[in-house]
Amino acid sequence: MQASEDGRFAFDAEWYDQHAALIRKYQFLFYPKDSTVEMFDIKNRRLFLKRSCIDGLKFEDLYVGATVNVNSRTLTLVDYSDEYTKNILSSKKEKTLALIKPDAVLKFGQIFNAIYQSRFLVCNAKMVRLTRGEAEEFYAEHVGKAFFDNLVRFMTSGPIIAMELMKDGAIGAWRELLGPTDSSKARSDAPNSIRAMFGTDQTQNACHGSDSTMSAQRECNFFFGSKVRRNTAMHQGSTCCIIKPSAVDTNKAGEIMAAITAQGYQVTGLQMFHMEKANAEEFFEVYKGVVAEYIDMVNELSSGPCIVLEVTGQGDNIPTKFREFVGPADPEIARHLRPNTLRAKFGHTKINNAIHCTDLPEDGALEVEYFFRILSD
Ligand code: RTP
Ligand code: MG
Repeated sequence: MQASEDGRFAFDAEWYDQHAALIRKYQFLFYPKDSTVEMFDIKNRRLFLKRSCIDGLKFEDLYVGATVNVNSRTLTLVDYSDEYTKNILSSKKEKTLALIKPDAVLKFGQIFNAIYQSRFLVCNAKMVRLTRGEAEEFYAEHVGKAFFDNLVRFMTSGPIIAMELMKDGAIGAWRELLGPTDSSKARSDAPNSIRAMFGTDQTQNACHGSDSTMSAQRECNFFFGSKVRRNTAMHQGSTCCIIKPSAVDTNKAGEIMAAITAQGYQVTGLQMFHMEKANAEEFFEVYKGVVAEYIDMVNELSSGPCIVLEVTGQGDNIPTKFREFVGPADPEIARHLRPNTLRAKFGHTKINNAIHCTDLPEDGALEVEYFFRILSD
């Protein structure tokens, strides 16, 4: 196969075949001219998918590490498969690691929102709490500096949120948005920067950003590589909130998170998931045969990344209270009857209604467990 023919982009793709319990490998070709896809089965050396349009698939969705749905299969793009694609896309689709540090974690909704407003794509996200050893390893480049102990103590003092951000020139763009290391200098020199708005001082400065291609790779791998970092879910008196793919895709996740915390709820777990169709079916199983929209709900939930939150709050009966705050399933009805609910504000249609939350109080723990214990590892 000839590289770059017709300006097409080529990726190595993998699909985990659950029945056969093996990974199938493909070459995945995307033709930007007409947004068509063609796939070859690598092992059998034959055409797997005739060049055709895939519903909902856009050029923006294609990068190394992305998951894409083709005919109900969730494929992962694991690498570029030719130099042309690599040369063009590696700077256009540059990745960097961002951390929301312990001093700013309560403001995470506003920070996500600033990230989306600056047109970064959030490719991955997870709330974790670093151990001392992990923080020392992450900041190995600063061992021996005067501020090292203070930095490690600070970074282990509470939960943090790690994010993989993507954009043309992401590393520089994110450091620019962060502003100077010292938060007071940020307030005088770059008043609209994240550190100016959310940082405290020289060490407690709200967020981190990788400083080079090498460190971005190392740092993304530290949080999202093969070694799984434990999430922070507490599994106690909590409920499950999914910010659905359609809301994530339209950059609404930050505003939704901010609205949840503004209402007095605490978010004790956060993770982005790319749901396989089979997992979405399993998760919505109770609605099968009960709710007419079951199939559409499954398709929506597996159409792209979603962000799952473990939500807790004051008093008991959190699943019931939170469900009231989320509002009626149909956003049109919500806008008429309960205009202050999340679905009234962020939902569009019954399927694209921005949020899933646990229905029955006794299912809160089960749904939290499904994401934060079963899928998370
Ligand atoms: P970051 O790595 O967090 O994105 O920040 P940076 O590149 O702007 O700063 P760097 O020099 O890499 O320092 C890492 C973090 O150490 C803390 N620090 N404290 N004099 C001090 O008290 C001091 N200097 C640095 C900050 O949390 C800084 O972000
Ligand atoms: Mg640094």
